[in-house]
Amino acid sequence: MPHEVHEHQKLQPGNICVDCTLGGAGHALATIQAILPHGKFIGIDQDIDAIEHAKKLLSSFGENVQLFHNNFIDLPQILSSIGIQGVNSIVLDLGFSLNQLKNSRRGFSFNKNEPLDMRMDTRNNLSASQIINSYEEKELVKIFFKFGEERFSRRIAKQIVKKRGLKEITTSLELAQIVKNAIPAKNVFGQRIHPATRVFQALRIAVNSELEKLENFMKTIPSLLLKGGRICVISFHSLEDRIVKQALRKFEEGCTCPKDLPVCLCGFVPTMKSIFRKPLIPTKNEIGINPMARSSKLRVAERI
Ligand SMILES: C[S@@+](CC[C@H](N)C(=O)[O-])C[C@H]1O[C@@H](n2cnc3c(N)ncnc32)[C@H](O)[C@@H]1O
Repeated sequence: MPHEVHEHQKLQPGNICVDCTLGGAGHALATIQAILPHGKFIGIDQDIDAIEHAKKLLSSFGENVQLFHNNFIDLPQILSSIGIQGVNSIVLDLGFSLNQLKNSRRGFSFNKNEPLDMRMDTRNNLSASQIINSYEEKELVKIFFKFGEERFSRRIAKQIVKKRGLKEITTSLELAQIVKNAIPAKNVFGQRIHPATRVFQALRIAVNSELEKLENFMKTIPSLLLKGGRICVISFHSLEDRIVKQALRKFEEGCTCPKDLPVCLCGFVPTMKSIFRKPLIPTKNEIGINPMARSSKLRVAERI
């Protein structure tokens, strides 16, 4: 939803903006154009490929652009290291990029025969292969159920443990096949999504600690935005959206005292206001052009 994000960022020349999930820098270009000539654009991605790509693409903007190969959880430290107290816009376009899916050779796709890696930041130690080959069966069940909402988690984990006892599971295609075989045939054929979709999503979330990072980052939002500054978050599944929704609701409500208390004792005041109650969803046209956007939701909130 690049147009909707751009519209709701409400950018002005001179603004300071952060794109926390730079990816292919699709949102970045429009943002930079809107804040020139004196604005500052800060781009972050934990994937070095995205940073290298953006370096080339955005090189002509010189000092208006600063790029950081970091997790977005590091944003408070990044801002203080460059002497910035607050920003006008923060954008999060969560999940993985088309480039990671198609070209990274890190096993994000169940349709490709690639090493089972799934690390967005290859400086981290934990890979999908380590989880699949060394975690206890009950841990695998927990991951598939919690992060993939996979109803056949137990059957799948059991098959994985059986197969890895014969030979280490090293590629994405091997795993996809094991998952497919573990699911009852009547639940495989005629489904809208590939049978391994949920397991792959769950593994990616576990490898990159995606939900934990998002939850911790959302807590810092009011302290990072200037008054009137906005955050736009695009999420791709209900687990992400729930975290964003609950964090924003907490900032909107302010006071956390029990309802029957006659006066507020906690002292918390509202710090954010949501721009719309229900999240925006992509148009049919956008889904036609970019099927990966089909489950996306956009939430926007303003610092008050
Ligand atoms: C959906 S893509 C972003 C696409 C981008 N908005 C564009 O227009 O091309 C998500 C990107 O965010 C990065 N990413 C995901 N979680 C991150 C995190 N916690 N910290 C930093 N980067 C992250 C991924 O590496 C990926 O490149």
